[in-house]
Amino acid sequence: MVASYLSLWATALAVASVLLAPASAAGACHCYLTNGSTPQYLVNHQFLDFRSIASPRITAPIKNRTLATKAGVTHPYFNSTAFANTWSVQAWVSNGPDATVWNTYSKNDVYVAANADARPASSTYMTMRTYRHPAANGNFQESAEIQTLSPNYKYLSMRMYARTRGSTGAVTAMFTYRGGATDADVQEADLEVLTRENANQAHYTNQPSTAGGVSRPNATNQVAIPTWTAWRTHRYDWSAGMSTWYVDGRVVNQNSYQVPKDPATLLFNVWSDGGGWSKVMPVGGSAAMDVQWIEILYNNTDYPTKYAHCANVCSIDRGTAPGVTALISSGP
Ligand SMILES: *[C@@H]1O[C@H](CO)[C@@H](O)[C@H](O)[C@H]1NC(C)=O
Ligand SMILES: *[C@@H]1O[C@H](CO)[C@@H](O)[C@H](O)[C@H]1NC(C)=O
Ligand SMILES: *[C@@H]1O[C@H](CO)[C@@H](O)[C@H](O)[C@H]1NC(C)=O
Ligand SMILES: *[C@@H]1O[C@H](CO)[C@@H](O)[C@H](O)[C@H]1NC(C)=O
Ligand SMILES: *[C@@H]1O[C@H](CO)[C@@H](O)[C@H](O)[C@H]1NC(C)=O
Repeated sequence: MVASYLSLWATALAVASVLLAPASAAGACHCYLTNGSTPQYLVNHQFLDFRSIASPRITAPIKNRTLATKAGVTHPYFNSTAFANTWSVQAWVSNGPDATVWNTYSKNDVYVAANADARPASSTYMTMRTYRHPAANGNFQESAEIQTLSPNYKYLSMRMYARTRGSTGAVTAMFTYRGGATDADVQEADLEVLTRENANQAHYTNQPSTAGGVSRPNATNQVAIPTWTAWRTHRYDWSAGMSTWYVDGRVVNQNSYQVPKDPATLLFNVWSDGGGWSKVMPVGGSAAMDVQWIEILYNNTDYPTKYAHCANVCSIDRGTAPGVTALISSGP
């Protein structure tokens, strides 16, 4: 059923030419078609733009772990409707079974920084940081995480324009997550960068990669990509039965094994717990993921009902800039 609707739409699109006028009026796009190796129609568009936020401020680490977990958001932006209607900054302690330091997510570690690049492509960006405190402050690591308020995203194309930098011993990630009663029931698709590895290595996984102590090697791939220290567009497309990851518009990994099936929460994080995966960050070290923007197309769970009304099909891939949509076909 779904497949036949899709091919009908594909045929309709093949004969339609790109309309020159961008979809400027609010609500002009009824759905979005993604490009790439697994094109799909998605209903909603979200754009978080961190490139021009007033009064950027890099926060100092908080030496007391209790106070770090209690810290408020670092900038009014994170209280603004543009962010807070759909996302929240996290504060909690998360330690894996082999952790050797307290991995402490603090709102203090998600902040707006001025872009000090030699030829800056933006005036600001969001930074997510992890910082290793000395033993005198308690054996802890300040870490950063943001997640969607809604746990109900099903199928999407999620992109971020980002880079990773800093000390060895951190993980930076973009992922979908749905918890389960046991580790075998978790559904999660992630991009992970390990700062201890070469800057052209990334891990793409349809979790769990280990369940009940048994590894599932088909769940995960380590792949050479264009270096993550440079600004790149990292993209994850979740479609029925397929996870596809891109860097700068090119597919770098596809995996049909154990693709998430049920609605999920979306997350970005930067962390270390001194365990076997992140390894240990040296005391006083820090690592960060800088993000200029996040753009997400999501949900086709109303398909095909909603598509019966999808007169104006848009694209973000053919837009003139990030966050800008282009009308690609207009039907009855
Ligand atoms: C950390 O802050 C809490 C709450 O203010 C306080 O009770 C505690 O004594 C502090 N710990 C240290 C080591 O200063
Ligand atoms: C964010 O909102 C909270 C709750 O209203 C407030 O206490 C806090 O001061 C605000 N933070 C900033 C940085 O605006
Ligand atoms: C996605 O669609 C489902 C079904 O209509 C809805 O329940 C859910 O809230 C939507 N998700 C978001 C994030 O809006
Ligand atoms: C995992 O991959 C191997 C090698 O491609 C294949 O033989 C095996 O059937 C796969 N296992 C599962 C559970 O898909
Ligand atoms: C898809 O669009 C992106 C921009 O969002 C572009 O970088 C990429 O080359 C396009 N891919 C294809 C297959 O057209």
